[in-house]
Amino acid sequence: MQGSANLNLMIKAARKAGRSLVKDFREVENLQVSAKGPGDFVSKADREAERIIKEELRGARPSYGWLGEETGEEDGEDPTRRWIVDPLDGTTNFLHGLPHWAVSIALEHKGEVIAGVIFDAAKDEMFYAEKGLGAYMNETRLRVSGRHKMIESIFATGVPFGGRSTLPATLQDLAKLMPQCAGVRRWGAAALDLAYVAAGRYEGYWERGINAWDMAAGLILVKEAGGFTEAVREGRSIFESGSVIAANAATFPTLAKVLREND
Ligand code: IPD
Repeated sequence: MQGSANLNLMIKAARKAGRSLVKDFREVENLQVSAKGPGDFVSKADREAERIIKEELRGARPSYGWLGEETGEEDGEDPTRRWIVDPLDGTTNFLHGLPHWAVSIALEHKGEVIAGVIFDAAKDEMFYAEKGLGAYMNETRLRVSGRHKMIESIFATGVPFGGRSTLPATLQDLAKLMPQCAGVRRWGAAALDLAYVAAGRYEGYWERGINAWDMAAGLILVKEAGGFTEAVREGRSIFESGSVIAANAATFPTLAKVLREND
């Protein structure tokens, strides 16, 4: 795919941050880990990856705004564009030596995500998409899964940690959905869950109580791969509600119905 200069910049920044993370992976004793809240960790690896991405992106496009998991929000001179960045999605996996984590970078224009990059550096899988140009993993064009029977379908979710208020609804979602499908996975990296829906590895994903940086890049990947994305509560904005359903066309209606009954 012949992506824009912005997409190429995002891919370059994700690779650079990914290299730094690979160096720190399984070096947990040197990573100065601290808890931001119950079950919510940050380390030198997250902070360094965000520093690298910010230097690349803000250095090249100083007028764009910024929203990063570790450094928060900063306005730019151009109020229509901002980067939305999770330097290390799946921090808990990373800190346990589990090779399932990723860098996630999105570009938003007038409130809409127009490009997204998710880099799984441990597996060297670079997922990227740009509005109207499709979604890819490395050189391969992505399509959501063609499975249409719920009973053959698998889904992923995140189980809210640290006593979050979204836990009871998520447990009810699981109780209702499990008997109707082939299984539910909980891998611990929302960005990769969305990338995997785009890649057709699972039919759908939902999560309650997540942040814009966890899902921004993944949302455009799913859409450009032919999937659907909406907030759990119908009509709400995905970012504002902090909840998301993403799935192929065939399973989306049933998945959404089950989740909305619990809302
Ligand atoms: C977390 C992961 C996890 C999801 C959590 C997120 P982080 O992001 O995406 O899968 O269940 O809600 O906070 O903290 O590792 O960047």
